[in-house]
Amino acid sequence: MKIAVTGAAGQISYALIPLLLERFKFPIELFLIDLEDKVSQLRGLEMEIHDFCFPHLKKIQSGCDERALFKEVDVAIFLGAKPRGPGMERGDLITTNAATFYRQGKILAEVANPLVKAIVVGNPANTNALMLIRGGEYKLKNQIQALMRLDQNRAKSALDLADDQRKEVYVFGNHSPTIFVHDTTQEVNDFVRKRGADIIKARGVSSQASAAKAIVDHLEDWFHKDERHYSAAIYSEKNPYGVDEDLVFSFPFSNKKGILKLPLSQEEKQMLLITEDEMKKERQIACTILFSN
Ligand code: LMR
Repeated sequence: MKIAVTGAAGQISYALIPLLLERFKFPIELFLIDLEDKVSQLRGLEMEIHDFCFPHLKKIQSGCDERALFKEVDVAIFLGAKPRGPGMERGDLITTNAATFYRQGKILAEVANPLVKAIVVGNPANTNALMLIRGGEYKLKNQIQALMRLDQNRAKSALDLADDQRKEVYVFGNHSPTIFVHDTTQEVNDFVRKRGADIIKARGVSSQASAAKAIVDHLEDWFHKDERHYSAAIYSEKNPYGVDEDLVFSFPFSNKKGILKLPLSQEEKQMLLITEDEMKKERQIACTILFSN
């Protein structure tokens, strides 16, 4: 399997690659992409990955030529984006990141395996994923998702701490402070909504190891052909919740059965509208930036 990673010289990638190679034992070729001034760091990372000595790692190539490195890839993991700092919201990054994702979406649709699976992690992840879809003229609309597993894992750990042992935990909407966890308390929602910012405040940088683990968890679910549902931000066309059909929105999703329609309370219906509205605004800002130049 050919796997490309953007923003590969960064810290999420540094945590991700060992986890990925530990979890997936089939033959893997890695294509590591970052900006031109990060090429030396990529070489260092390449050296370390070779030193892991994983027998199923068949090849590593790194550099800044996106067209060459996305060629025929089966999976693309989009980490590369300007990260937020203390006091910022993820949505504040749209102005910098929308154009990058639009450009990469075009290249991905042109050169990747036509069945490529792409996961967006760089923030604002949902709107960046939409820009990736639009850049590729919607050809990959059902093959691009945004990472919600970090929120799902956060919700699960908060529920576990509260002695709520349920297995299925689903998050809806945007990876932002408007996200909500299905069938839970205000405390759990507040925890999930603030967790990314709390980590930035405490560490000075955003979450890295937990994000890496969530990516691997997400991919494992996405590779499966069984009926399991997981929280994934997917292209919202024909969704059963009446959400705008041109967003990348988190629903309970199954590779086999599609979106699961759960009964929502009145309060959840209100939260659904709020998170949808936020994403529509982000989309509007991204499109204004892209098409005003
Ligand atoms: C997170 O949720 O930890 C990441 O999306 C990083 C961020 O900016 O919060």
